[in-house]
Amino acid sequence: MTYAEAKERVVRLREDLQRHDELYYRQNSPEISDQEYDRLKKELAELEERFPSLQDTNSPTRQVGDDRAEGFETYRHREPMMSLDNTYSEEELKSFFQRVQKLFPSKNCAFLVEPKLDGVAVSLTYEKGRLVRAVTRGNGVEGDNITKNVQTIEEIPHRLAGSGWPEVMEVRGEIFMTFAEFSRINAEREKNGQALYANPRNLAAGTVKLLDAREVAQRDLQIVLYGLGYLSDEVFAEQAKIAPKLWEWGLPVADWTHLAGDFEEAWNAIQELDELRRTLPFPTDGAVLKLNDRDLQREAGATAKAPRWAIAYKFSAEQAETVVEEIVVQVGRTGAVTPVANLRPVLLAGTTVSRATLHNRDEIERKDVRLGDTVVVEKAGEIIPAVVRVVIDKRPQESEPYAFPTHCPECGTELVRLPGEAATRCPNLSCPAQVRRRLRHFASRVCLDIEGLGEAVVDQLVDRGMVKDLADLYDLQAEDLERLEKFARKSSENLVRAIDQSREKELWRLVHGLGIQHVGATAAKDLVRHFKSLDRLANADESELAELHGVGDVMARSIVTYFANEQNRELLARLKARGLKWEEGDDGKETTNGPLQGKTFVLTGTLPHHTREEATALIEKAGGKVTSSVTKKTDYLLAGTDAGSKLTKAQKLGITIIEENDLLKLTKT
Ligand code: IVH
Repeated sequence: MTYAEAKERVVRLREDLQRHDELYYRQNSPEISDQEYDRLKKELAELEERFPSLQDTNSPTRQVGDDRAEGFETYRHREPMMSLDNTYSEEELKSFFQRVQKLFPSKNCAFLVEPKLDGVAVSLTYEKGRLVRAVTRGNGVEGDNITKNVQTIEEIPHRLAGSGWPEVMEVRGEIFMTFAEFSRINAEREKNGQALYANPRNLAAGTVKLLDAREVAQRDLQIVLYGLGYLSDEVFAEQAKIAPKLWEWGLPVADWTHLAGDFEEAWNAIQELDELRRTLPFPTDGAVLKLNDRDLQREAGATAKAPRWAIAYKFSAEQAETVVEEIVVQVGRTGAVTPVANLRPVLLAGTTVSRATLHNRDEIERKDVRLGDTVVVEKAGEIIPAVVRVVIDKRPQESEPYAFPTHCPECGTELVRLPGEAATRCPNLSCPAQVRRRLRHFASRVCLDIEGLGEAVVDQLVDRGMVKDLADLYDLQAEDLERLEKFARKSSENLVRAIDQSREKELWRLVHGLGIQHVGATAAKDLVRHFKSLDRLANADESELAELHGVGDVMARSIVTYFANEQNRELLARLKARGLKWEEGDDGKETTNGPLQGKTFVLTGTLPHHTREEATALIEKAGGKVTSSVTKKTDYLLAGTDAGSKLTKAQKLGITIIEENDLLKLTKT
């Protein structure tokens, strides 16, 4: 590989990894399996090692992912939360053992083998035996304060049992969900027409980041604690002694671990765990090996992102070989074109797989997947099966590289690819494939909830050219519908009535139903609460949107792009002319002449007598506005106890900092 080729590949890998990090950590909806992600990261690390001038401190190989989300206060860990190096190979695991042993030639290094739970990392702080805080890993240095959500987990003691705990103690562990709970919630979501979660990890991660703790309480989260951060007194000499002590103090720990004296013993324990995990009710994706002696751990130290005394051995996803019989492309609601391989059916991880995603154009080219190729497919968790690589030896002689379509297979429009995007798109908003998907979404339970307008009806309406966009729905007459399959007078009238009634549904349903990228039901509600009118939302500028609670930069950009589009503007005008609800009645939360009129507040920390929601309501009632981040435009920072980085920022910017009782005075007229 030449330097120029390596450079090009490194740039591509960094972009891809950043995108996958965003999907995994922030959106909780990964496109690729962990193993595929780890492979990309390894390829990047190897290139950076071979071509040192391509190294960069901002490279994903040097950083831990960042799970911080909008709407939470960030909190600095007393001791950073590190990531773990990982491997899928026995050889590499053995080298890790030898490396550590070589550091301490006069000692007999023992290693603790623990299950690697697949959930979200959390750090609990106990002070004088009381739970005071729960924080996500975030970027390793500071994370989101999710205390209220974590307090809903039944197994977590608010007070420690027993005695002998350090006065201040950060305990680290993993919050996860059982397969049974995952299926229960997804089944409910399916019934409601909501998007399904890919696997229990994503659902657990999505749940701890819900903004309403009452919603969290409705889902059964569990936790296992396996490590420590800052301790005011060092009370543990061995890793293996941590779990039994935590257990005595009432904290949940793994009920399987193995203390191994040498590599063979550790390897046997890993094999045992690999068998055992198939029977466990929660997801485990590997084993974690930790040097047992805590003094030696400290001596071994850490790299920028991971300790040198521990490693994760990850179990490989199941793979199988099969043949690509056809490559087709699918057009999604937003026009994204996804290539899919139709496969000769093959049994994989307990199910028959006959389709696998090829992700996007670059991925097909990189793997050089061709028609008739024998490929290795992989299925990890609930992720859509993916083509990992081609078995070149089995390639038919006359095969040709796959030519990615230049035009949309549905409407013939030339496909485009926007700079910085991995997806190729059909830019035609009237493309029947997109219209079909948009209509299905619009009519679904979580949007306008139009009874009788299911997929089969939508498909017929679009295929017969009776509906070309969302507004056309409102022009349908019962006589038109009678022409559809399985439709009679009565069912036609019922559907027309249901469509008619949808004009009166709450505004957030319409906002959600428009299908603006990244805008889910919760965001739609937040937007409507703030703007109260679709016209005002359509004219909002990016910075105002980005400041809103729960919105953020990516969504703000997407909203602005949507409303800037001429075709979308026309559609909105047509919907408005058809009498859809355009304004949300004032629910009395905001007034236009209160004492705080025009003042912007940011809240941080825990208030002594009010919840954040109550304080927000007080401010809004007095005419003020609450935003999530401190900027020069902020008038007041309302600070409670445990205020984090927002307080520091407000101090730097010279913003007035007030306490709860000051607010009560300010809101009095
Ligand atoms: S120890 C400094 N032990 O895996 C050591 N992590 O891939 C840091 N995880 O961020 C972690 N089970 O979220 C450790 N028994 C276990 C674990 C475990 C799951 C997670 C944890 C960590 C990630 C690293």
